[in-house]
Amino acid sequence: MLGRGEFYQMNRNGGHHRMMDALSELQVCPYSGFEECGVRVWLKRDDHIHGELSGNKFRKLRWNLRYIQQMGYKTIVTPGGAWSNHLLAVSLAGRQFGLRTIGLVRGEEPRNRNPILSSCVDNGMEVEWVDRQTYRKRTDPGVVGEWLSRMGGGAYWLPEGGSNKLSLLGAREIVDEIPISFDYLCVPCGTGGTMAGCIWGSLGRGYVIGFAAMRNGLFLRNEIISHLRSVDVSQTSWRLEERFHFGGYARWTNQLRDFQHRFAAETGFCPEWVYSAKALFGLETLCRERTIPEGSRVIYVVTQFHDHEGRWLQVE
Ligand SMILES: Cc1ncc(COP(=O)(O)O)c(C=O)c1O
Repeated sequence: MLGRGEFYQMNRNGGHHRMMDALSELQVCPYSGFEECGVRVWLKRDDHIHGELSGNKFRKLRWNLRYIQQMGYKTIVTPGGAWSNHLLAVSLAGRQFGLRTIGLVRGEEPRNRNPILSSCVDNGMEVEWVDRQTYRKRTDPGVVGEWLSRMGGGAYWLPEGGSNKLSLLGAREIVDEIPISFDYLCVPCGTGGTMAGCIWGSLGRGYVIGFAAMRNGLFLRNEIISHLRSVDVSQTSWRLEERFHFGGYARWTNQLRDFQHRFAAETGFCPEWVYSAKALFGLETLCRERTIPEGSRVIYVVTQFHDHEGRWLQVE
């Protein structure tokens, strides 16, 4: 999974772009909603990255796993919601790399495990439930330190969503792989790590628009700014769209379902609805409003991944 190239120096000046061999292809997106507006959209098909892990999970874990191997860590501890695809991805990585994985799951333990957590456990992840009040302290270094020492010390801490400096480096590579010029790059947002890496990679190349999959965009915007600060980027040519959450995280409406089906029927690509359908719906709206003007060239980053049985991962 980590086999290509050397872990190169993080580029801090932002002026240099390193064209990389692409791990996923760019596809022209033949969707009438974009075509009617005269906007050309390409899908960056990260869901096609080869292997068990793909999508933004691959990008975000790639350099973290490399680091974990180099430093000799044997255990990963990471927090997440009960339906977290991030936890599932970490459990898969743990199985693949022979690492112990511990998921700190928000909330109370339910009577029945949902399918995502069942898969995590099947992959060998140990699950610990953390009450909501304590979970809110998941970024507090003191609390994290206590958790880690309780796990026996020497464990690697991966923040929620896997978003840290190394994940930004992986997300940045999405843009480094794009061989064509573009005006806008669009990406769905949860913790903002993928978007921040894309902003880093897009310096001097194009404007980045993120689509929040949940309410509370202000918090997310601040998270993105702090991710960017962590790699010394003060880039301002980006913005977060907060209108397309469809009621909140993992909420949906019939309008979103209709859009998802129409998009899949026209393009052959079925966006999962928790993040991707919301973002693509938002992208069409921006084209129709002319916020993205006629003649624009747009990259849409496909962030979803397949699970090990090849099904789309989505919350149902
Ligand atoms: C399909 C998909 N897109 C986007 C995201 C959001 O990524 P980030 O947390 O880096 O904003 C996630 C996060 O789980 C995801 O599963």
